[in-house]
Amino acid sequence: MRIGVLTGGGDCPGLNAVIRAVVRKGVTNYGHEFVGFRDGWKGPLEGLSRPLGIAEVRGILPRGGTILGSSRTNPFKIENGVERIKENLAAQGVDALIAIGGEDTLGVATKLHELGVHVVGVPKTIDNDLGATDYTFGFDTAVNIAMEAIDRLHTTAESHHRTLVVEVMGRHAGWIALHAGLAGGANVILLPERQFDVDQVAGYVEKRFQHQYAPIVVVAEGAHPLEGQMVLHNQELDAFGHVRLGGIGQWLAEQLEAKTGKEARTVVLGHIQRGGTPTAFDRVLATRLGLHAIDAAHEGDWGKMVAMQSTDIVRVPLAEATRELKTVPLERYAEAEVFFGS
Ligand code: F6P
Repeated sequence: MRIGVLTGGGDCPGLNAVIRAVVRKGVTNYGHEFVGFRDGWKGPLEGLSRPLGIAEVRGILPRGGTILGSSRTNPFKIENGVERIKENLAAQGVDALIAIGGEDTLGVATKLHELGVHVVGVPKTIDNDLGATDYTFGFDTAVNIAMEAIDRLHTTAESHHRTLVVEVMGRHAGWIALHAGLAGGANVILLPERQFDVDQVAGYVEKRFQHQYAPIVVVAEGAHPLEGQMVLHNQELDAFGHVRLGGIGQWLAEQLEAKTGKEARTVVLGHIQRGGTPTAFDRVLATRLGLHAIDAAHEGDWGKMVAMQSTDIVRVPLAEATRELKTVPLERYAEAEVFFGS
């Protein structure tokens, strides 16, 4: 077979490890050929490709980002998008696709599968919010980056008796905030899953100062206050209808400073959480998902996504995988609340 590989949506550490595993096993064990499509769905849509053999994947295991490039192109929003993809696959002699992506990229893969395109999906996102898989690679790396930032912010916050608000990624799901906040010993953690009361947060912060210990507040970019409007960077939507977030951390710091009389500063970690080399956990997970994805493609098991359940890699229907977003259950959040303000 000649198999196309693409990476779509927000990049994350571990994408190259998947590509490497797919190609290494696909060529060595099965004798398949590969072509890399550039920039997510834009690649097959516009016929943009590059060679992808063993030589091209040497040395990429520890590299962040994706050698194939990525984009948030949605072919279903483009006139004749599906026809153009089918034509370009045929023109390049491509029999099947391995699509590595999050809910949007895999949502497109699901629809293309229903329209007869041979496709296998691999889940990725730092947000860890895909149903049907216990973990997505990229998440562990993002959490470790955020935890290290929080550790560093603790010491400077102490020196200056300041509140430090750390805004982390997480549009609809607060997994990064929850795990980084717990691992970093945050004073308060705020998630998109539950609206927060800014007066209660100010109370926690004041209590921390009473203990002569400066507070770190971890807030997910998608968190929002009670009765308030979500704070938006701007109102532009991307091709999948998502707004660009950013701003809740700054807003919260201003509120906390006004309410507590103590200086409050904000650090927005942003894309730092998506950059650089993957952790060992993410390298292993990405590699295993890649190995299982090429097995599924080799067997012609189309319309499936490989997933981690417990410690096993299993196959689930793509449609099931993208049906619902995996958000933080409120009982998990309650575990963390024990530490708030104390
Ligand atoms: O889905 C991954 C993610 O990093 C989210 O946490 C974040 O909201 C979004 O992507 C940011 O997207 P972009 O890099 O396109 O601004």
